[in-house]
Amino acid sequence: MTTPHINAQPGAFAETILMPGDPLRAKLIADTYLEDAEQVCDVRNMFGYTGTYKGQRLSVMGHGMGIPSCSIYVHELIKEYGVKNVIRIGSCGAVNENVNLMDVVVAMGACTDSKVNRLRIKGHDFAAIADFHLLETAVNQARAQNVPVKVGNVFTTDLFYTPEADIFSVMDKMGILGVDMEVAGLYGVASELGANALGILTVSDHITRGEALSAEDRQTSFHGMMKVALETAIN
Ligand code: ADE
Repeated sequence: MTTPHINAQPGAFAETILMPGDPLRAKLIADTYLEDAEQVCDVRNMFGYTGTYKGQRLSVMGHGMGIPSCSIYVHELIKEYGVKNVIRIGSCGAVNENVNLMDVVVAMGACTDSKVNRLRIKGHDFAAIADFHLLETAVNQARAQNVPVKVGNVFTTDLFYTPEADIFSVMDKMGILGVDMEVAGLYGVASELGANALGILTVSDHITRGEALSAEDRQTSFHGMMKVALETAIN
């Protein structure tokens, strides 16, 4: 049986999955880092692959942009395909002077302007937090591999193009390390369905300084994040 958005066979996914936003990045990860990777789904060109990394079964699949897209794929992966650990590997914008382009941010928690988690919990505030084991493993693996990471709160927004620029100074004041568009939703759906989730993000742009990564730097910081994510996935 397949799901409305994933046409993979039962058992096609490993218990642990890495999820970038871009399905072509999922293909690149499968081609670059996995052994014996096979494509397992392609509905809407949202490609998913399963192979092995250091002998352990591992999947990678795109989740698209924004909480709704990400939540649909993650929901179906957990509920219908038995996925237990979801690691988002993505990018974020920075708002703080001490956070720089190419930094790797591990999302311990995620604020949001989205209502999805309130919908889940009868209108109350939900603390969208990472799974502690995945978080601890990512921090330990980053240390072991000399990849500097910043660990803390991110802000997941529904508006990439926000008309209210002063929100960024409020985020800065509240200690937000990065702005993305999925992590709070990912943590909500994982909690709802009893799975584990973590977001690891590279800083691709500095919102308040108006800076953005070059293509080359984007590749370098991506590799640093991947080293952390891959080792977290198998440990
Ligand atoms: N992802 C990467 N950069 C971002 C930004 N500036 N806002 C929201 N999501 C992002």
